[in-house]
Amino acid sequence: MKIVTILGARPQFIKAAPVSRVLRKKHIEMIIHTGQHYDANMSDIFFEELNIPKPDYHLGVGSGSHGKQTGEMLIKIEEIVLKEQPDYVLVYGDTNSTLAGALVAAKLHIPVIHVEAGLRSFNKKMPEEINRIMTDHVSEFLFCPTDTAVENLKNENITRNVINVGDVMYDAVLYNKELAQQKSTILSDLGLEAKQYHLITIHRAENTDDVQNMKNILEAFAQIEETKVWPIHPRTKHKLAAYGLSVEKIPNLKVIEPVGYLDMLTLESNAKKIITDSGGVQKEAYFMQVPCVTVREQTEWVETLEAEANILVGTDVEKIVAAVKKEVRPVYSDVFGDGKAAEKIVEAIERA
Ligand code: UD1
Ligand code: UDP
Repeated sequence: MKIVTILGARPQFIKAAPVSRVLRKKHIEMIIHTGQHYDANMSDIFFEELNIPKPDYHLGVGSGSHGKQTGEMLIKIEEIVLKEQPDYVLVYGDTNSTLAGALVAAKLHIPVIHVEAGLRSFNKKMPEEINRIMTDHVSEFLFCPTDTAVENLKNENITRNVINVGDVMYDAVLYNKELAQQKSTILSDLGLEAKQYHLITIHRAENTDDVQNMKNILEAFAQIEETKVWPIHPRTKHKLAAYGLSVEKIPNLKVIEPVGYLDMLTLESNAKKIITDSGGVQKEAYFMQVPCVTVREQTEWVETLEAEANILVGTDVEKIVAAVKKEVRPVYSDVFGDGKAAEKIVEAIERA
């Protein structure tokens, strides 16, 4: 079996690592990196740390408007897929790279495998929601991380080859958790003590592209007295600079460059709380059993809201601050599977 895998953005490198490892035992995989993320700390570091094979093709598409970025990807991916003639094209998640890969393959009648299928926020203003819906509707195999995702697809009349395999990000966490403990020195590097700080990540367009939302988020951080660590996404850094908003005067806030996966796992597992708008980070908070506060109006990861493992607060200053202060006693379960999603994915494709 020959598979072309499309990767482009940080969370996709992490999702691909466990699947590639299993896939390559018996099959041929060619990786196309679209270049959507390109800074060393948004891309190369993950290939190195997670031992992801070097991409066979690097498209160097970079940043741009949705149309320009996706369009360039379409043109370049099509050429390669025509040349390689794979049995399947494999895409992850909901980025512009996902959509481009799925669209090219479907038009060439090459079956699309979508990992992390069926997620919905029911907010079509999010670019990710468009990407997911379009990708799911042209996919041949839809590997879902949760029962909710399966149900979402059923509601759109997609039932064939829909399988809940669990979450591949859980596979990645289980595989790398100990390695992170052995290798990461991030806590001592930053002078942090376990459970004495909150971890922040913010990058969603719905937050970063709205100056008032960003002002509210910074105001909330200013009102949270405890130590806070914020590995800042380049999108957010650029937006804050463009708005002329400064983080300098926010007390006890350490803003750092994006970190590698092992440092991130260490920062997550030792945090008192995690404040985020990231999809992946919400789930990792759940896997690490660290209470999460999600700075969004909706989440695709509705399971995490049960038992207050995650609290949705939007960008209301008081709600953010109150949720961070709130004492919660979440009860965690195996709603994201057993950490063997990658094996289940490869087995299901082999059976087809
Ligand atoms: C993308 C995905 C989003 C995902 C996120 C993961 C889409 C529409 N969005 O958002 O779903 O959650 O990745 O992190 O696909 N930039 C750099 N260096 C980089 C990458 C980006 O400076 O290596 C800056 C550029 O200013 C760029 C901006 O970040 O314009 C946004 O990058 P882009 O890939 O378009 O979207 P993300 O916000 O990263
Ligand atoms: N991540 C990381 N370093 C960082 C921030 C995030 O390694 O500085 C990892 C995080 O552990 C998770 C993934 O990146 O596995 C989440 O990606 P991101 O938040 O960029 O995108 P999303 O999941 O929201 O699409």
